[in-house]
Amino acid sequence: CIPSATYRPAYHYTPEKNWVNDPNGLVYLDGEYHLFYQYNPAGDKWGHMSWGHAVSKNLKTWEELPLAIPETMNADGSTNMVFSGAAVVDSLNTSGFFEKGFTKGMVAIYTSHLNKNGEGMAQSQSLAYSSDKGRTWKFYDKNPVLAIGLKDFRDPNVFMQEGKWKMIVAKPLEFMVQIYESTNLKEWTLLSEFGKMGDVAKIWECPSLFKVPVENSDNSKWVMLISSAAEATEFTGMQYFVGEFDGKSFVPDKQEGVLRLDRGKDFYAAIPFQNLPAKDKNPIIIGWGSNWSYAGDIPSEGRRGMFSMPRKLSLVKENGQFRLVQKPIYSNRIHSKELILKASELTKPKTWEMKNNSYKLGLVIDLGNSNGFAMELLKNEEEKCVLTYNAMTQKLFFDRTKSGKIDFNKNFSSIESMQVVPQNGVLKLDIFVDNSIVEVFANEGKVVLTDLVFPQKNGGKIILSLLKD
Ligand code: FRU
Repeated sequence: CIPSATYRPAYHYTPEKNWVNDPNGLVYLDGEYHLFYQYNPAGDKWGHMSWGHAVSKNLKTWEELPLAIPETMNADGSTNMVFSGAAVVDSLNTSGFFEKGFTKGMVAIYTSHLNKNGEGMAQSQSLAYSSDKGRTWKFYDKNPVLAIGLKDFRDPNVFMQEGKWKMIVAKPLEFMVQIYESTNLKEWTLLSEFGKMGDVAKIWECPSLFKVPVENSDNSKWVMLISSAAEATEFTGMQYFVGEFDGKSFVPDKQEGVLRLDRGKDFYAAIPFQNLPAKDKNPIIIGWGSNWSYAGDIPSEGRRGMFSMPRKLSLVKENGQFRLVQKPIYSNRIHSKELILKASELTKPKTWEMKNNSYKLGLVIDLGNSNGFAMELLKNEEEKCVLTYNAMTQKLFFDRTKSGKIDFNKNFSSIESMQVVPQNGVLKLDIFVDNSIVEVFANEGKVVLTDLVFPQKNGGKIILSLLKD
């Protein structure tokens, strides 16, 4: 048994202790990127949901700050938990929360979750505001600002469009989102609804809507992200729609099947940054690196949950359909290894000894007429994670069934598979291994996979060999 600290990622953000889930209120202000998040200040399981807080100057290294927005207690013993939401910079003081002329006010729009004896009674949208760059917050004294009498109604995401605030918010059990408009963040008018499309297996949460530039063109399209938790045995993760938004309604392009943001099991609740500086032309998202079907049981006692690397988004058109491309933002101080080779050089397997379990691996492999390859990562005796590429079926697999600790929950052990078409006979993978999380970006971010793993030793080998049959 190893101390749980060993599972703490080195270049993926986690707070020092306790439970985290969704990223919240991603917003840029004055040289700082803010990452608020669902946080339990009292323990390493979900509960007492509040907003934790971290800041970064470069999206690569983060500094944890004190708790930002706490759960509050009501006179009757019930509590208001602070569920997921967004933060905006109200530079024109449209809300009236700030002093005249103050341009750096932050407003958080979150879901108040009324909790009585451990049971959710009602959800509505509320406001808190900060005049000191998110360090301290006041609750709006007339909360909530939006309630429609639904028990499940949550995760507002707010953005500015042509001088008006827009909010997208989910009716999770109906697979619907609503879009509202406001001039002051306090009074909201319903504009339209969208939903009952794509993945409607279980629930819709954490919606967002934003413009994404199309690569090699001056065009952009609107993208809607939805977190759709399906049954544990099936796919669990995020879907997206590409379409147009006229300021009122979102109309998706025709699409075949469900568009998946990430093919792994551990990427959820991602939302975009608001108020990005002009130099960041492309939207940037961060997701929660876990999965509700086992998140509470992962063996990193004392500190459960982590965040993905920030990802820069763009669109490409393939076979007449727009697809999201995701490029990770990471520090060049991460230990990295670049492998550029031909499959024909692998008549004997190649082995690399790694000093620890935190690194970036770049693989550019010319497949030639091989059947494909198998790459074992974090390999220590019987333990290994295996990335396999089958050149016949053009499928990439990630197998974590022998990755280390897997028996903490029956839903954890899994093999993911995804279609990846080589480009001119070459497959390119950027693999980020970070103690207990693996993120794989195939073909420059056209296909992405995020999975947690819990290897029990530090410093596993990498073994690359030809696929035999
Ligand atoms: C998504 C979610 C949100 C909710 C939050 C509660 O992971 O279920 O819908 O606001 O987590 O922690």
